[in-house]
Amino acid sequence: MSFQPKLHILFRQDEIEATVKRLAAEIKEDYHVKYPLLIGILKGSFMFLADLVRLLDFPLEVEFIRLSSYGQGRQSSGRVKVVQGLCSEVRGRDVLVIEDIVDTGLTTSFLLDYLRKKKPASLRLCTLTDKPSRRQVSVSIDYLGFTVPNKFIVGYGIDWSQKFRNLPDICVLEDERPGVV
Ligand code: PRP
Repeated sequence: MSFQPKLHILFRQDEIEATVKRLAAEIKEDYHVKYPLLIGILKGSFMFLADLVRLLDFPLEVEFIRLSSYGQGRQSSGRVKVVQGLCSEVRGRDVLVIEDIVDTGLTTSFLLDYLRKKKPASLRLCTLTDKPSRRQVSVSIDYLGFTVPNKFIVGYGIDWSQKFRNLPDICVLEDERPGVV
């Protein structure tokens, strides 16, 4: 039987906007005199980062790293790979990692360890969503948008097999096969 994706909205655009505003205020309070290095994890964080930095009206630097832990389906492969590395110097910088979702924690845990070895002055994590029910490794989150249930979510940058990143809302993706969510 072929998979027929069905979506329902978990967080509407206006709820996301209010949450990004709240996070921006928290980050501004802590970083406005620090010239931080914001590192977005591609691809999922691109939309959140773009909206967030427009609300941060102080000097900062934006950098990206591309990591991958998921295959083509809904399950993590469990292996994290650096697909595209950093260009900026991390040593001595106040680094803030920007993530779309912390799920098992494998991706962020890998990246935080990777960055810590580069001796930043400080290292913190901001994630728009957190799914603590799926955690495999402990991750300390400094700035959190939403806690989400143990459902597969898509939209606002988050994909399923590279689809649905462009949705303006965060939605739950359901499988129409009976009993499968
Ligand atoms: C997704 C998401 C996070 C990671 C979270 O990335 O963007 O980076 O999984 O999962 P984890 O906590 O179980 O590691 P993915 O590897 O699917 O790549 P993408 O950002 O390009 O979608």
